[in-house]
Amino acid sequence: MFVAGAETSATVAEWAMSELIRNPKIMKKAQQEVRRVVRGKGKSRIDEEDIQEMDYMKFVIKESMRLHPPGPTLMPRESSESVSIKGYLLSPKTRVIINAWAIQRDPDIWSCPEEFIPERFMGTKFDFKGLHFEYLPFGAGRRMCPGISFGLAVVELNLANLLYWFDWQMPGGADEKGLDMTETFGILGAREFPLQLVAVPHFNQI
Ligand code: HEM
Repeated sequence: MFVAGAETSATVAEWAMSELIRNPKIMKKAQQEVRRVVRGKGKSRIDEEDIQEMDYMKFVIKESMRLHPPGPTLMPRESSESVSIKGYLLSPKTRVIINAWAIQRDPDIWSCPEEFIPERFMGTKFDFKGLHFEYLPFGAGRRMCPGISFGLAVVELNLANLLYWFDWQMPGGADEKGLDMTETFGILGAREFPLQLVAVPHFNQI
């Protein structure tokens, strides 16, 4: 419960920031949206009501989870009865691993699958809720993630605050395109090397 609840949300935020730093135009667009929503209301704190107006930031999170699902192979399943899939016969009690990572980069489903394009989610049917088997960051079916609402709220508030309060740079003026995006191998699709960025306060009052 602790691993499923804490590591996943932190991993999503870390990957989203990694993609944003590599794509400065997208970072700028997301920051402009977050700052417009919060500043326009004369508030100094971001709350869940504000998040509802941050459509573009939500696309950023969706796209980040498409390329970097924190649970790349979901939970293992077991067939309860014999079934034939595309000519392969699975006997009862066969362990099945679902490669959500590969599905979410499948060129038959996604155009330019390796590219980070949050706009692809604008006006599409794809949602997190396990109804579209092309996109499964929270899994699907009876074993799908029970923490979806909590996890999303944490990621959204976290990212909105990071984007609102700070501008972000690579350490030592390094080239953002050179950022190492290697993933760990295992049940959690985390960054192999922790992301290190320089946070520059955006507002004077910090
Ligand atoms: C953005 C954050 C999160 C992501 C991307 C995520 C993703 C996932 C995925 C992919 C699974 C496997 C689902 C499947 O096999 O169909 C899962 C299972 C699970 N998640 Fe999450 N999760 C997140 C946050 C959370 C939070 C906040 C909690 C609890 C506080 C949580 C608790 C669990 C538990 C208990 C399971 C196992 C469910 C079962 O096996 O029946 N998750 N999660």
